[in-house]
Amino acid sequence: MKKPLSLIDILNKKGTQRIVMVTSYDSTMAKIVDAAGVDIILVGDSAGMVMAGGDSTLGVTMDQMVYHTQCVSRVKPTAFLVGDMPFLSFQTSVPDAVRNAGRFLQEGGAKAVKLEGGTRVLEQIKAIVRADIPVMGHLGLTPQSVHAFGGFKVQGRGEDAARMLKENALALQDAGVFSLVLECVPVDVAKEVTEALTIPTIGIGAGPHCDGQVLVIQDLLGMSKEFKPRFVKRYAELFDTIRDAVEAYAGEVRSGTFPSEEYCFKD
Ligand code: KIV
Repeated sequence: MKKPLSLIDILNKKGTQRIVMVTSYDSTMAKIVDAAGVDIILVGDSAGMVMAGGDSTLGVTMDQMVYHTQCVSRVKPTAFLVGDMPFLSFQTSVPDAVRNAGRFLQEGGAKAVKLEGGTRVLEQIKAIVRADIPVMGHLGLTPQSVHAFGGFKVQGRGEDAARMLKENALALQDAGVFSLVLECVPVDVAKEVTEALTIPTIGIGAGPHCDGQVLVIQDLLGMSKEFKPRFVKRYAELFDTIRDAVEAYAGEVRSGTFPSEEYCFKD
């Protein structure tokens, strides 16, 4: 068995090796992505969309996130496991933030948490870090702010927005985050932020200059026919593969071909 990746292993990758992060929400998928040798598994609140079928991540609760994190941690991944703090689990108060972050480690088996937002949640981040819980930041298109943004839109466009994004990134670094997700920001802005920070950045729709990349596992596996954003590269077409397999099964059940003798018990 390989030695599990630690926080220090992740930090040491900046400038030496690009970080591979992918989401998972259940044991079966976690085992597969861990076997592929990813560095970080994120139990994202994207679970609310890809697992629960919601239009946004806003409906996900702490109990649901703890459950998904438990499902993933049970496989004892070599990858560093990060749990994603859902809407209203940290925005409400500093004590709420620390208590809920702690649940990811104590009940979920995660090694760190991720939370969305900049200077407005700085006190929460500092308090969680003081409780010895590693925190990953998340700036740019933070999906929990979808209604405030007026939709899922690229962030950090224009001089003022880019400057604000960089200021927020530096503030998060000062507050103690160990890495930073940059979601849907222009390539040059992500490059400038990545160069300005000593901690690794992990991009999604943020171009090639980040220290690592993350994708939602269902997106990279092509499991949806409808959702095809520009920043997602599909490395498989599993919607088609799975549909074809289930169609073949259905055909054999209906024709009586399955189960044939080899799948039956004898006396
Ligand atoms: O919830 C999630 O999956 C995320 C990643 C896309 C970064 O936040």
